[in-house]
Amino acid sequence: MRVMTIVGARPQFVKAAALSREFASREGIEEILVHTGQHFDANMSEVFFTEMEIPRPKYNLDVHSLGHGAMTGRMLEGIEDLIEKERPDVMLVYGDTNSTIAGALAATKLHVPVCHVEAGLRSFNMKMPEEVNRILTDRISDVLYCPTDAAIANLSKEGFDGFDCEVVKVGDVMQDAALFYAQKSKERSTLNLEPGFVLCTLHRAENTDDPARLKSIVAALESIHEESEVILPLHPRTKKKLEDYGMNSSLHIIDPVGYFDMIELLKKCKMVMTDSGGLQKEAFFFGKYCITLRDQTEWVELVQHGVNRVVGADGDKILNAYRKFSSRPSSKFELNLYGQGSASKNITDHLLQFTSKY
Ligand code: UD1
Repeated sequence: MRVMTIVGARPQFVKAAALSREFASREGIEEILVHTGQHFDANMSEVFFTEMEIPRPKYNLDVHSLGHGAMTGRMLEGIEDLIEKERPDVMLVYGDTNSTIAGALAATKLHVPVCHVEAGLRSFNMKMPEEVNRILTDRISDVLYCPTDAAIANLSKEGFDGFDCEVVKVGDVMQDAALFYAQKSKERSTLNLEPGFVLCTLHRAENTDDPARLKSIVAALESIHEESEVILPLHPRTKKKLEDYGMNSSLHIIDPVGYFDMIELLKKCKMVMTDSGGLQKEAFFFGKYCITLRDQTEWVELVQHGVNRVVGADGDKILNAYRKFSSRPSSKFELNLYGQGSASKNITDHLLQFTSKY
């Protein structure tokens, strides 16, 4: 089986690390890894390949720092050429980025079956580029690998039961990665941290591109920082916007970190505040409460189980959630919501069976 895998943005490197490792351990799988170039700074890309021992991409399209249309268009063109050249049996795409939709669209037009990892997630906010990317990718996928029951239910409501595709619940490859690398992070992390801080990340367009929202969030974080240190590994997008808006901040800002450092931050923090999708789950994997700085979350099961609160950019709501979670001791959450590390195996088993039909 020849699988072409498209990666381009930071969370996709983490997901590919789990699945590429499983592929490499099996007979008869050749993976052609393509990096679109969407994330290109060393601490947003290279560090993940090195630390997580992800195979070197065979191709790098070097497409980045463009508007949505130009970025997606150039990726589409580049990936189409690579499909013609490599003739893979299947195309594998992850998540909801511009790289995801470009890979799926290029493949489906050339009749290469598309397999979407992290299918079925919805925020129900069509203003988010990620929501548009994931809905369109799901619709043109042949196999939809869903991480959760909620994802399966979303697809069912949208009529996918009647479409010519397979919907499979497999668990979440991010849990596979967290379990595997948590064993190694202590020795490999370069950070030396006193426990008990608040870990925060912020990069979604809906927050960074709206000065009022960004200011409101930063003001709430600064007030929390007065009693409990807030550590913010800052995404380049947010860094640029803070500079553009002339906003100075007293928060403990650090450069984006690699995966081992992120795991150590997760292990030692008392709570997570984020607008990232992946970090909400990683907080859960490491037994930490999460305050979600968005108006919706795709990970509704975390909210249902009381370990995640969705507060948007409202300063009062952020502070209330912080106080609520501060009063509860963090504990190991004994819930199996994401497959407990079996997702990569489930996907690989299914893919081998799926491609044997062609
Ligand atoms: C993208 C994904 C988002 C994912 C996120 C993870 C889309 C629409 N969004 O958002 O789903 O959660 O990645 O980080 O695909 N930049 C750098 N250096 C880098 C990477 C980016 O300077 O290494 C700059 C870009 O040039 C751009 C800005 O940061 O100006 C935003 O990058 P972009 O790739 O557009 O989207 P993300 O916000 O990272």
